[in-house]
Amino acid sequence: MDAPHRPLTDRTLAALFEGYAWLPDRMRRSPDRVVRTRVMGRPALAVRGPDAVRFFYDERNVHRHGALPGPILDTLFGRGGVQTLDGAAHRARRELFLPLRAPNAVGELAALAGEAWDRAVAAWSRRDRLVLLDEAGAVLTDAVFRWAGLPLPREAVRPVSGDLLALVDGFASLGPRHLRARAARRRQEDHVARVVDEVRAGVIRPPAESVLDRFGRHRDGDGRLLDPRTAAVELLNVLRPTVAVSWYVAFAAHALHRWPEHRGRLRAGDDGDATAFAHEVRRFYPFTPFLAGRTARDLSWRGEELPAGGLLILDVYGQDHDDELWGDPYAFRPQRFAGRRPGRDELIPQGGGDPVAGHRCPGEDLTVRLVATLSARLAALDYDVPWQDLSIPLSRIPARPRSGFVVEGVRGDPEQGRQGTARRAGP
Ligand code: HEM
Repeated sequence: MDAPHRPLTDRTLAALFEGYAWLPDRMRRSPDRVVRTRVMGRPALAVRGPDAVRFFYDERNVHRHGALPGPILDTLFGRGGVQTLDGAAHRARRELFLPLRAPNAVGELAALAGEAWDRAVAAWSRRDRLVLLDEAGAVLTDAVFRWAGLPLPREAVRPVSGDLLALVDGFASLGPRHLRARAARRRQEDHVARVVDEVRAGVIRPPAESVLDRFGRHRDGDGRLLDPRTAAVELLNVLRPTVAVSWYVAFAAHALHRWPEHRGRLRAGDDGDATAFAHEVRRFYPFTPFLAGRTARDLSWRGEELPAGGLLILDVYGQDHDDELWGDPYAFRPQRFAGRRPGRDELIPQGGGDPVAGHRCPGEDLTVRLVATLSARLAALDYDVPWQDLSIPLSRIPARPRSGFVVEGVRGDPEQGRQGTARRAGP
């Protein structure tokens, strides 16, 4: 039988409801690590492995324009952003984001996040209990607005961080979470577009070369300034994912709770250990389930054909848990990354391929540094972990500990916390 013409049931709902397990479950039955399926009404091939990553990120094979469904654009990404561009238009827009990879920029944001965390710890110690994922959101909002040069009055930190977290939390759901994300997108785009207008009118004067300054002045390949709405979409492409690092902070707390033996190393303050821990948090815990692009031409992968206009899907979560690449992939072992940078196309929680030219996340170095910095501070903190539901259902995108990771009785300043421990009461 001619496989490409076999009618296939559309699996869009399966992808939504089975979440992270959807592709890995089917890949297990495929020795070639390729799954033929149908998604969003299009024929699709799901692939995995470093070779597949290179195939997926080859612009001759895959385009991004028209690949993302409206509900994701209207919540997570916004319309007209860098994620939806190809070729020269993508390269011109991506230039905005490349300076975020510079070591001094990474160091500055991590330092601001560390300071915001230390200020927050003082306030946490006066509260009975708190949800770490939400608190990390406020810490990161405070830090990233300062770093990017956007004004943010103290009283706005919570509402804005609530909106930025909601954009991430609601993009793949139906119902109230999704509606909340849509409202948050409208509110934050309106607000940031007004900020861009005010910068251009000289009412707000951001620090020279800050993110706000550069994005406000950016001209696309056609030489025209970005319209304020698109500039806002791109500024939110910095603010939102930085605040999304809160998920990794909650996952780091989860890891330190389940495997407290890692606490000591982190407390000792070695940057290499903290970086290895951050990589393992990104590998082990579910965040991006898969990525998809539209095939630019007829493609063939390991004997399977996919016509132009189909969907090529990269099984991100599956690759980060592939036995062949990781050996014992469901064991949490930061030592995997001791003294080595992960291979470019092996560890792909934030995409793969060339970090400069393709669509790979330009905030990856920032993320690693933020997770390393805040995990070390978390390990140094003294707190109790009350009984709570810490399960992380893989059917929910994005996954998170159900409780958001509740802590109680935060004690002392972070310096004292360096002697600290987390007492366990729950699962
Ligand atoms: C929680 C941490 C983060 C995760 C899990 C994450 C994940 C990802 C993934 C999976 C992609 C898509 C790659 C692709 O389409 O091939 C991406 C793209 C992107 N990320 Fe991140 N990211 C994170 C943090 C950041 C940060 C901190 C920034 C910036 C400050 C950032 C900015 C971007 C941008 C602008 C893109 C689009 C790049 C393009 O299409 O050219 N991300 N990220």
